Amino acid sequence: MIGRLLAAEGMVILSTPLPACMMIGDMRILVLGGTRFVGRVFVEEALAQGHQVTTFNRGQTGHDVPGVEAVRGDRENRSDLPSLVQGREWDWVVDTSGYVPQIVGNAARLLSGRASAYVFLSTISVYPGWPAEQVNEDSDVYDCPPDAPGTAEDEANWSAAQYGAYKAGCERAVQEAFEGTVTVLRPGVILGPQENVGRLTWWLRRIAQGGRVLAPSQPTKSIQPVDIRDLSAFTLRCLQHRTTGVFNVTAPQGHATFGSMLDACRKVTGSQAEFTWVDDSFLVEHDVRQWTEIPLWRTPEGTWAVDSTKATAVGLTCRAIADTVRDTHTWLKESGGPSAYDRQSHHGLLREREDELLKIWDRRYSRDIVP
Ligand SMILES: NC(=O)c1ccc[n+]([C@@H]2O[C@H](COP(=O)([O-])OP(=O)(O)OC[C@H]3O[C@@H](n4cnc5c(N)ncnc54)[C@H](OP(=O)(O)O)[C@@H]3O)[C@@H](O)[C@H]2O)c1
Repeated sequence: MIGRLLAAEGMVILSTPLPACMMIGDMRILVLGGTRFVGRVFVEEALAQGHQVTTFNRGQTGHDVPGVEAVRGDRENRSDLPSLVQGREWDWVVDTSGYVPQIVGNAARLLSGRASAYVFLSTISVYPGWPAEQVNEDSDVYDCPPDAPGTAEDEANWSAAQYGAYKAGCERAVQEAFEGTVTVLRPGVILGPQENVGRLTWWLRRIAQGGRVLAPSQPTKSIQPVDIRDLSAFTLRCLQHRTTGVFNVTAPQGHATFGSMLDACRKVTGSQAEFTWVDDSFLVEHDVRQWTEIPLWRTPEGTWAVDSTKATAVGLTCRAIADTVRDTHTWLKESGGPSAYDRQSHHGLLREREDELLKIWDRRYSRDIVP
């Protein structure tokens, strides 16, 4: 609705002042999105490297990053993108807000000839085999047509299969429609400052409260979240080096463990929390919702066995999980946390449920039971 009003009144373009310390760079980048998490941090990184950035969004989510040229519009509205591209061009496009193939294809078509490279932010959910099995870039992806229609209005509540299938269709749409260099990035879980989903932020808040904390599975369990700043640096690197193709983007297997993540949370929060590691089978038996009720906990073998060696070979580097945890904590303290997002309410174990599960666990294993 807002997009329509704006379109009727002509495109709104806002320029926010560029901080004096930033030089005007040599590349002009259009970010479709750019105000929430993935796009936002990418924009910050691109500006810090001295590039010129235009962001395109409706002005509903978050705030513009200082230094961007902000153009308002709705990519689902037929006339807003044509107005954006009228008489303008960029070197690179980074699409962080594509969920519906037909809409993504429209953007890729319109931007052909107006930019030389297009990076599409996809996801490892494009593999129907994930998380049951280990996936690499040659694994099967969902079979979704590149012109599948729809709206992303309710994207935060889509099932994993709908999200993954549509993202696969979006990838095809860009590959078919964009005339130029196309790079498709398929991140796994992305963490770091400004995270909006409520994964690491939930763990930090829970551990800060102290007491006995139900920790899932084993402390040695390998996890592979990628820090948003490493993903952003990799995206820029792909553009600078004209790296084309499809890449899984996760930390390497064995880079971090659940235990190291939770220990880092305890350290940065100064908490005295005591972790009680509870078996997968117990959590499954008690119907704990995987991935969301206990954020980042999931049992299938392939969850944290994503092959990202292809990205590593072309320059993806990943910082230590302790750095991600520390900086996310600092950001949480300073900012009060992310803006509202529907998926946040799906995440986190209620305190009463946690206490109840720990009681049952104790009874089963006779922990602390006085004879
Ligand atoms: N979080 C993860 O762990 C994870 C993992 C894998 C992949 N990903 C991918 O990362 C991306 C998520 O990035 P993000 O949401 O953090 O990106 P972002 O670019 O920071 O935020 C989304 C942007 O899209 C804009 N937008 C939404 N609908 C729009 C529309 N109809 N027209 C124009 N602009 C619109 C929003 O602004 P307005 O609302 O103001 O328009 C906002 O600026 C997605 O592509 C997701 O599939 C995320």
